[in-house]
Amino acid sequence: MAKQSWKPGNMLYPIPAVLVSCKGADGEENILTVGWAGTINTNPPMLSISVRPERHSYELIRSSKEFVVNLATKDMAWATDYCGVVSGRDVDKFAKCGFNKQKADVVSCPMIAESPVNIECRVTEEKKLGSHSMFIAKVVAVHADETYMDAKGKFSLASANPIVYCHGEYFALGAKIGRFGYSVRKNKKSKKRRSKR
Ligand SMILES: Cc1cc2nc3c(=O)[nH]c(=O)nc-3n(C[C@H](O)[C@H](O)[C@H](O)COP(=O)(O)O)c2cc1C
Repeated sequence: MAKQSWKPGNMLYPIPAVLVSCKGADGEENILTVGWAGTINTNPPMLSISVRPERHSYELIRSSKEFVVNLATKDMAWATDYCGVVSGRDVDKFAKCGFNKQKADVVSCPMIAESPVNIECRVTEEKKLGSHSMFIAKVVAVHADETYMDAKGKFSLASANPIVYCHGEYFALGAKIGRFGYSVRKNKKSKKRRSKR
C-alpha cells in the first residue's frame, strides 16, 4: 500500500463544526464557527475551543470569559459555513442567518434557538499555543431540544442530523453502525440460539 509522507499538519478528521455564540463585556453579541473544539474532561465536564486572536470573537470571549457551543445540523450547514467566513466586525450574523436568540440559564451570552444542543461554558484558562489560543472551559449547563426525544425522554441527537467537517468539506452522518460496547456485547438472538442448543 503506497502512502505519501506529508509535512506535519492538522489531519485529525472528521471533527464537529460548531457554532460558538459569545457576548463581549460591552454587550456585543456574535457567532463564529469553530472546528478546533473538543471534550477534554468528563467530571467536571469540560471542553476547549481554540480561537485565533485575530477573530472578532476572540476579544469578546476573552473579556467575558463565557461562550455557548451550539451544535450544528444539516439545516444549519449554510449558516455554519457563513459564520466561519465572515466577521462579526462587518455583519450581524444572528440576523443574516435568521437565528433566534435564546436566553441561557447561567452565562450571559445568547444561545442559538435553532440548535438542538446548546452547551453553556465558562472559561477557566486561556492557553496561548501559537496561531490559536485555547480556551479551556467548564460546562455549566446543557440544553437539549425536546423535538428529538421519544415518549420516554430518550434523546436521539442523530435524528437532528448533526453535521461533521472532514478535511475542508461538510457531511451529514451516514447509517448507524453500532452502539457503545457493541464489539463485546453478546447478541441476544445468538445467545438464545446457543442456549437452545
Ligand atoms: C468549518 C470551519 C471551522 C473553523 N474553525 C475555526 C477554529 O477552530 N478556530 C478559529 O479561530 N477559527 C475557525 N474558523 C474561522 C472562523 O470561524 C472565521 O474566521 C470567522 O469569520 C470569525 O468570525 P469573527 O471575526 O466574527 O469572530 C473556522 C471556519 C470554518 C468555516
